[in-house]
Amino acid sequence: MRVLGIETSCDDTGAAVYDSERGLLAHRLFSQIALHSDYGGVVPELAARDHVRKLLPLVRRVLEEAGGGHDRIDGVAYTRGPGLAGALLVGAALGRALAWAWERPAVGIHHMEGHLLAPMLEPDPPTFPFLALLVSGGHTLLADVAGVGRYEVIGESVDDAVGEAFDKTAKLLGLGYPGGPAIAAAAQGGDPERFRFPRPMTDRPGLDFSFSGLKTYAANTARDHALDPRTIADIAWAFQDAAVDTLLIKCRRALRQTGHARLVVAGGVGANRLLRERLGGLSDREGARVYYPRPELCTDNGAMIALAGCLRLEAGESAGVGFDVRPRWHLSELRPPGEGKGSRTGD
Ligand code: KG4
Ligand code: ZN
Repeated sequence: MRVLGIETSCDDTGAAVYDSERGLLAHRLFSQIALHSDYGGVVPELAARDHVRKLLPLVRRVLEEAGGGHDRIDGVAYTRGPGLAGALLVGAALGRALAWAWERPAVGIHHMEGHLLAPMLEPDPPTFPFLALLVSGGHTLLADVAGVGRYEVIGESVDDAVGEAFDKTAKLLGLGYPGGPAIAAAAQGGDPERFRFPRPMTDRPGLDFSFSGLKTYAANTARDHALDPRTIADIAWAFQDAAVDTLLIKCRRALRQTGHARLVVAGGVGANRLLRERLGGLSDREGARVYYPRPELCTDNGAMIALAGCLRLEAGESAGVGFDVRPRWHLSELRPPGEGKGSRTGD
């Protein structure tokens, strides 16, 4: 089965073609970073308008690159949520309309399910069951994954997502947007001995996270010092060290609790080099193997939506001719393809 995937949940316009036998045939992304950088964060209305401009040409391009035109497409998958309502509506409307015109089925995908399944786009993919750490700009969660649509969320952030904390800390340090890569770059010149930031919620049992206190700690440290380039680098180092360490402590706990031998890490923060390095050490000690998508498939992309759509369409799931979006949509509401609540979309 060959599926066109469309992603427009936030500030990246993504389109891709995935084939269940031949793998990823084409994948393109248009990033809106330049558009939003003057504002220090995503402006929802601007994001939606830019998706309108960029999506159709991007879809044409991946169809050309995949070869065979739209006649070879067996189904269309689009991101149904969670995300920005106006941005989601652009992808959902185009995805649904193309499927209708081509007389093919369409399916609305949960954005975090896309992230969670993205490592399966790589050679030597993980097999079920596994533990998943999903770390993006909007979410931080640990899920016990038994199969497609079988997700038990065993830990999540009670306030800010870890990516959001990276973005806010970068902003207060004057490092620009998006904050994750900016903090990581600034931290390279930081002095590991100068500041030590807290590891929130690690001193009590449980798998939930909290990152807003860490961001406040960074803000207070910045306020109490002259923000010269050296101090900015030292704060960036201490923040990244604490954020990564906190994720690591909870992963170790979750691996021991679930007994899983595989850990899947996905979402934008999964592209972080320090996180990958330290998870390598953790996996050696815990005897668990870690799976990531390549960095460009860690952040938002159409390929993960095409893959998730393919797995659901192959199992017979499809949406009605109407469509809707779910700006707020908890991962635990999902069900296996074709089974009960959450399986039919847009009815
Ligand atoms: O998954 P994603 O592309 O979009 C959402 O679904 O939110 O994640 C974006 C988040 C942003 O907060 C960004 O700052 C963060 O991922 N990020 C990183 C890195 N690259 C992106 N955080 C830390 N280190 C990175 N290298
Ligand atoms: Zn994402």
